[in-house]
Amino acid sequence: MDIFAKLQNIVTPLRISNDPAELYCYSSDASYIKGTPDYVVMPSTTAEVSEIVKLAQKHHIPIVARGAGTGLAGGAVPLCGGIVLDMSRMNRIIDIDIRNLQVLVEPGLIHADLNRALEPHGFFFPPDPGSSEMCTLGGLIANRGSGMRSVKYGTVTDYVLDLEVVMPDGAVIRTGGRVMKSASGYDLTALMIGSEGTLGIITGARLKIHPLPEARAAVLAHFNELEAAGRTVSAIMEKGIVPSACELMDSTTIKAVNTYDANLNIPDCEAMLLIEVDGAPCSVESGAARVAECCRELGAFDVTIAYSEPEMKELWAARRLAGAAVTRLNPGKTRVYIGEDIAVPLSAIPEMLREIRNISDRHGLNIMTYGHAGDGNLHTGMAIDTLDEEQWEVLEKTADDIHLAALRLNGTVSGEHGIGSARGMYMIKEHGGALDVMIAIKQALDPHNIMNPQKVGLE
Ligand code: LAC
Ligand code: ZN
Repeated sequence: MDIFAKLQNIVTPLRISNDPAELYCYSSDASYIKGTPDYVVMPSTTAEVSEIVKLAQKHHIPIVARGAGTGLAGGAVPLCGGIVLDMSRMNRIIDIDIRNLQVLVEPGLIHADLNRALEPHGFFFPPDPGSSEMCTLGGLIANRGSGMRSVKYGTVTDYVLDLEVVMPDGAVIRTGGRVMKSASGYDLTALMIGSEGTLGIITGARLKIHPLPEARAAVLAHFNELEAAGRTVSAIMEKGIVPSACELMDSTTIKAVNTYDANLNIPDCEAMLLIEVDGAPCSVESGAARVAECCRELGAFDVTIAYSEPEMKELWAARRLAGAAVTRLNPGKTRVYIGEDIAVPLSAIPEMLREIRNISDRHGLNIMTYGHAGDGNLHTGMAIDTLDEEQWEVLEKTADDIHLAALRLNGTVSGEHGIGSARGMYMIKEHGGALDVMIAIKQALDPHNIMNPQKVGLE
C-alpha cells in the first residue's frame, strides 16, 4: 500500500511531502514536545480534507491538523507519526455579513488578518490571543483559546455560531447555523471547541463579531507588593467595573521585558497591572478614573492613564513581548520556554501568586508570572539550559507543583492553551468521572483512534 501515491490522487503533488527536512519542520510547535509525521499534506478544500481523512481511516493512520504551530502544549505535534494536515492554505474570509453580525472563515486564516478586514466596517472579533499575528482561527477554536479581552468579551466559545467539521469517517457535518441562538439538539459546536483535533477536523467557522468600542483607555499601575496587585484585580471587579482587559506582569517579567527592549523602561517594581476599559467616551473616562482610584487604594504607586492610541499601543507592545522575553531569563544558554496557563477563581489570585513565588524559591528556578489576571489566568514562564538534565528535572517538578497548586485552589491546569500532550496527566484529577464521559465520546466517534492520538489525556 503506497499511501504517498494515494495522497497524490487527492491533492496535487506539490502539496504533499515526505521529505525528512520538510517533515522536521512539522515535528514541533511552540512547546518542547516533539514527534515527526510520515507525511505532510496541505489541503485547500473541505472535499480534499474529507478524502484524506477517509484514506487515513481506511488504513488506520493517525491524522493531526495543524494551524500555525503556535501551540504551547504539543497539541499539533504528531506523537504517533502519520499525516499532518497543514491547514494554512485554507485561509479565506468567505463572507463578512455585517447585517447578521457574523463572518464565515476558513480555519487557516490568521487571527489578526480577520480583525484587519473587519476594522473598516467598524467591527472586530474580540478574542485576542497573545499570538494574534501568527495563530490561526482554526487553532484558536480547537484549543478554546482566548487572550487579553476575555475578561469582558468572553472566550472563543462565545463567538462560534457554526463549525464545518470533517468527522473521523470523512463525513462533513455542520454543528450549528446562522442564528444567534439555538436550543435544537446537543451542542456539538461546544463539543468541538477545545477538542484539539481529537474528534474531527475543523474546515470552516461562522463567527460572531462585535462593534468596535467608541473609545478606550488604559490604566497602568505599579505595585511594590505582588499580592497587592492580585488583590486589586478582584477589588476592581467587586466594584462592578468590567474592564476590557486586565493584565498582570510580575517583577521577573518586567526585568525580562526591559532586558529584551531597553527602550520600554518599565519602572522596577514587584508587579504591574495594565487595565483597559472601553465603551462610550464618557463611561471610559469615569471607568478609567475609578480603576485608577481602586489601584491607589490598594497600594499602587505611579498610576497613569493613557487615552491616546500610540500610547496604548506601546503599553500593549510591552505586554505582548512577555512571551518572547522569557528567553532573557537565562541568557547565553540553550533555552526552553515552558509556559503554563493555569487559571484560578479571582479571589484565589493572591494565594496563587504567593504559591508560585514559594514554588520558585523551593526549586530555585526563576519564574516569570504574567497574564490575564482579570480571568484568574496566569502564565508562568521558565527558561532552562536544555542540555542540562538536572535542570529538566527541576523544571518538570516546578511545573507539576504549579499545576497541583492551581487544582488545590479550585482552578484549572489550562485556562487557554489546551491540554495537548503536556498536561494529560492532570485530566483525571481535574475532571474525575467527567473524563470517562470524554473518553466514551472519543471512542464512539473515533473508534480506531486516528484523530490526534495520545492527546488531551484521553488514553
Ligand atoms: C500570552 C500567551 C502566552 O498571553 O497566552 O501571551
Ligand atoms: Zn495568554
